[in-house]
Amino acid sequence: MTIAISKIVQGLEPSATLAMSAKAKELKSHGKTVYDLSIGEPDFVTPQHICDAGTAAMKSGFTKYTLASGIPELKNAIVEKYKNDYTLEYKPSQVVVSNGAKHSLHNIFFTTLNPNDEVIIPAPYWVSYAELVKLSGAIPVILPTEESQNFKMTAKHFEQAITPKTKMLLLCNPSNPTGTVYNNKELIEIAEIVLKKNLFVIADEIYDKLVYGSNRFVSFPTVCSGLQERTIVVNGVSKTYAMTGWRVGWTLSPENIAKKMGELQSQETSNPGSISQYAALAALTGPQDCVAQMLDAFTQRRNYVAKRIAEIDGLTCSEMSGAFYVFFNIKKYLGKTLGGVRIDNSEQFCLELLTQKQVATVMGSAFGCEGYVRASFAAGLDILQEAFDRISEFVNSCH
Ligand SMILES: Cc1ncc(COP(=O)(O)O)c(C=O)c1O
Repeated sequence: MTIAISKIVQGLEPSATLAMSAKAKELKSHGKTVYDLSIGEPDFVTPQHICDAGTAAMKSGFTKYTLASGIPELKNAIVEKYKNDYTLEYKPSQVVVSNGAKHSLHNIFFTTLNPNDEVIIPAPYWVSYAELVKLSGAIPVILPTEESQNFKMTAKHFEQAITPKTKMLLLCNPSNPTGTVYNNKELIEIAEIVLKKNLFVIADEIYDKLVYGSNRFVSFPTVCSGLQERTIVVNGVSKTYAMTGWRVGWTLSPENIAKKMGELQSQETSNPGSISQYAALAALTGPQDCVAQMLDAFTQRRNYVAKRIAEIDGLTCSEMSGAFYVFFNIKKYLGKTLGGVRIDNSEQFCLELLTQKQVATVMGSAFGCEGYVRASFAAGLDILQEAFDRISEFVNSCH
């Protein structure tokens, strides 16, 4: 006799990105060299001054519980960041610091959604969105977008997807997995519908500092008045400062929601790690040249990957405007035999690519978009070169 698993958790899909990365690690543990482009994690180490702030926090005895919603110094620094970067005015009481942005999203859904509320999520979407919405008992409504439109949701499609049960839109900008960045005009068109239909928006802006070329990031609540009180902004230090393991994310929301999310967090996890919060404070308030340096490296890699995809027969991708992923089209190879194995979907493509060529990527189906594969370019140019040589060999083995 074992304890039965709850219905809600039985229905939960494990994170496909973490699953592919675990498979890659397993191959590595058997002595294989794996070219791992599966996980959304900067390959850089956390900048030294941020690590030093963590060490200093430990040495100074900041090793105790903090306020559940985060230390006041970090909340103030987050408020300053939004004021300086986006001229958005928030009060510290509108900030909740959590154990990574994924936890922030969980807090939002649990605090604001009731069973059967609908959340519109443009696809391809980040793997955890739909699962986290389902965990809260609400319904993810997936809205497909097209490669030919750079995977952008149009205001018209958005409006058509709205029903009386729609409560909110979840907008990831810049997008994981496609790298799409919405411009000001496109965001205004979406915002007008949000206001007209009296909806809320979760603006996941965790890649706000990773935008390439002439693309410009625009924070959603800035695009017209009346949006700030119906938007919850999600961000964190994981991607911008190469701090994935420190687990610090945050939300900026209306005060009543922040209060309730803080209370939820106080019951579920208490506070985010005290040491990590001091490190995040150093990240936001310290020198920012580390961000510019990482962006330079990502830009070089993004240009390299775009060139390689264009050279490989049958693969296409839309412009990678932000974040650090390429979402490439493999439809030409579906129904074909690669390395002697018939490939009918993106999952088989990725598994065979990993088994035959030791390159780890993630299937588009995990992002709600069959016929595509996501590869992260948060890896060194040498790794990218070898990985794309192998991807090229793999598809050239087509019969
Ligand atoms: C779009 C998006 N939102 C949120 C997160 C979660 O970030 P964190 O590591 O801070 O939990 C990720 C991480 O991959 C992401 O890609």
